[in-house]
Amino acid sequence: MDHIRFDAGDMTLIIACKVGNVPRILYWGKKLQGDIQIEDIHALTKRRGVLGSADVSIDPSLAMEIGLGYAAPAGFEAHRDGRSWGSIFTVYSAAKYEDRAEIQCRDNDTQIALNYDIIVDPETGLFQFSSSITNICDDEGSSGILTVNKMATAVLPIPGRMTELIGFTGRWADEFRRERLRRFSGSYVRENKRGRTSHDSFPAIMLVRPDTREKSGEAYGLHLAWSGNHIIRIDTLMDGRVMASMGALLFPGEIRLRAGETYKSPTLVAGYSSNGLSKLSRYFHEHVRNNLMRKKFWQKERPVHYNSWEAIYFDHDLEKLKLMADKAAAIGIERFVLDDGWFGSRRNEKSGLGDWVVSDAIYPDGLKPLIDHVTGLGMEMGIWFEPEMVNPDSDLFRAHPDWILELKGKEQIPFRNQYVLDISRSEVSEYLFKQIDSVLSDHDISYVKWDMNRDLNHPGNAMGYAKPYAHVMALYALIERIRNAHPDVEIESCASGGGRPDYGILAHTDRVWTSDSNDAIDRQNIQKGASHFLPLNILGSHVGPAKCHITGRSLSMSMRAATAMMGHMGVELNLLDEPDTDLSELKKAISLYKKYRHLIHNGELYRIDTPRYINALGIVSKDKKEAIYSVAFLTGYNNTHPITIPFPGIRSKFEYQVNSIWPHDFQSSTTLEQKELEMIGIGSIFSGSILKKVGLQLPPSFPETTHLFYLQRREA
Ligand code: GLA
Repeated sequence: MDHIRFDAGDMTLIIACKVGNVPRILYWGKKLQGDIQIEDIHALTKRRGVLGSADVSIDPSLAMEIGLGYAAPAGFEAHRDGRSWGSIFTVYSAAKYEDRAEIQCRDNDTQIALNYDIIVDPETGLFQFSSSITNICDDEGSSGILTVNKMATAVLPIPGRMTELIGFTGRWADEFRRERLRRFSGSYVRENKRGRTSHDSFPAIMLVRPDTREKSGEAYGLHLAWSGNHIIRIDTLMDGRVMASMGALLFPGEIRLRAGETYKSPTLVAGYSSNGLSKLSRYFHEHVRNNLMRKKFWQKERPVHYNSWEAIYFDHDLEKLKLMADKAAAIGIERFVLDDGWFGSRRNEKSGLGDWVVSDAIYPDGLKPLIDHVTGLGMEMGIWFEPEMVNPDSDLFRAHPDWILELKGKEQIPFRNQYVLDISRSEVSEYLFKQIDSVLSDHDISYVKWDMNRDLNHPGNAMGYAKPYAHVMALYALIERIRNAHPDVEIESCASGGGRPDYGILAHTDRVWTSDSNDAIDRQNIQKGASHFLPLNILGSHVGPAKCHITGRSLSMSMRAATAMMGHMGVELNLLDEPDTDLSELKKAISLYKKYRHLIHNGELYRIDTPRYINALGIVSKDKKEAIYSVAFLTGYNNTHPITIPFPGIRSKFEYQVNSIWPHDFQSSTTLEQKELEMIGIGSIFSGSILKKVGLQLPPSFPETTHLFYLQRREA
């Protein structure tokens, strides 16, 4: 087989894989119609040597291994004690089975095998690339050990006309910031060494043309399904080629393969849209929903959460929590999550992590009285763990001071008064499994918030080896073991907010805590950023206190509630202190959310291009019969009137009734009379075509106001 071709979604992918040659992407882009002569692509793209360079043009390979002799950043570097570094991986077998392909390569001189596995989604054209390296050395002794320094999962060529890239940056409490840059000669590189996915380098990137917008233009998207250290690169080479690659970032000596051993790289998920960024996102959302989520949970309606953190922090008190639960149930909340502070000596951030037993100082009769109360009110019970961590002031650390990751002889870098446990040691994982298992077995708990609140600055084990990769693999295995033992328990991935929200962890968890910031203005941007690769149904979004604890900004209940509705809604404030007017507005928001969550969680996302003062998106049901649009005024605006907003995604030939469903009292800077409401079309019926193309003149609105519009198809 000389080449493998996939046509799916918007795209065609052709991989040249002739036996004896290096495998390479011959074409990845807009779908090619008809019967293509592969030789024609070879002929049209053939390069010859030029003066000042080799006499031949070297073809890029999927691995861009250093042995190719290509003067470009390498995707693969390994050696055996300084030798065997110059592999060239040529194909010895390639096969295609419907939506999947396998390409096996090796270098017989260096005795290394490299295998690729590619799965293509027939609907969206998204492909999952994984690669593995095996040491096929016949020397079983220590001189046969292969040290892998660097391994990109794959290095993919991107057409040069994608002159811009959109990368992710951010920080704690302000995740998923996008940076749109013009590509430049040289390399755009993000190296994440935090040991978790990170707040500042979400492992994804998009390559676009200057005119690419939400609903038009070409866009390539790549994501690395990995919850640890990573490298993202876009290399613009001197020969004009553009190469995109992603892989785990390996610490020195982390991957040392004995004869017969294999290293498997994290999966790279890549997609192409010829029709804008929102379409690309919809492809990625389908992947998350169909391939990562556990069906029984995402098909179930997402219960509205209550989370105790910003309400009480460490101030646990059974009677107060019961009152809080009463109030929560009364406004329609369906799941009550008890956050940090219920266990061991954990009365503040300095103590108790690692001792996962209910504190009898604050819960003398255990958690049962609280859980019975919560479940008696018809709510589910959830609980917080941070299993990978230990406080030095804990029984666990006193008993096993050698269980932590550290750099022997060097001081620990202080980080939230806690150390990271070496969970790649089986006795450590075993201990954690038993502790968590016993809490879950002894109580009626159906939800776990799995937190992780520090970087792995010094990820060395007791023997002195670096273990960040092993940490992530052990984490996945531990969660999986807990899932298998408790298949009805949902698990949320949290790492000081959105520090671990990638597809690697999402294969083992059911929701992400998007950000510690509950500031609705910031959340509008954070959730919009997250929505490029993550569907709304897994994005935890909570109504926080009126004055945000993190940013100090005060926002109305109306704004906070509308923002939380565009995700997996929850509430995280002290219900006992809330004014009745706010509580009653929150109750209305929750009931509205319940009415429309089937649509918000199962529909298709359309972000809308707007001026900066507005953030707007729509979710349209697959059958196009209904849609909900959120239009948030982040600030004021310079003109007398705001913009006209289009309603993308609906069907032109259908008719729709347009209704304003939020704010519930339709606040705006002027009091709208019925006549004015009619003027802006509320409750009236229009053709889909006009709504899409002409749109709706937005009413004059205060800054920090969110409007929700609901469109329903009128059957003839
Ligand atoms: C992290 C989480 C918060 C909360 C605290 C508890 O910061 O992101 O939501 O659970 O830990 O310590």
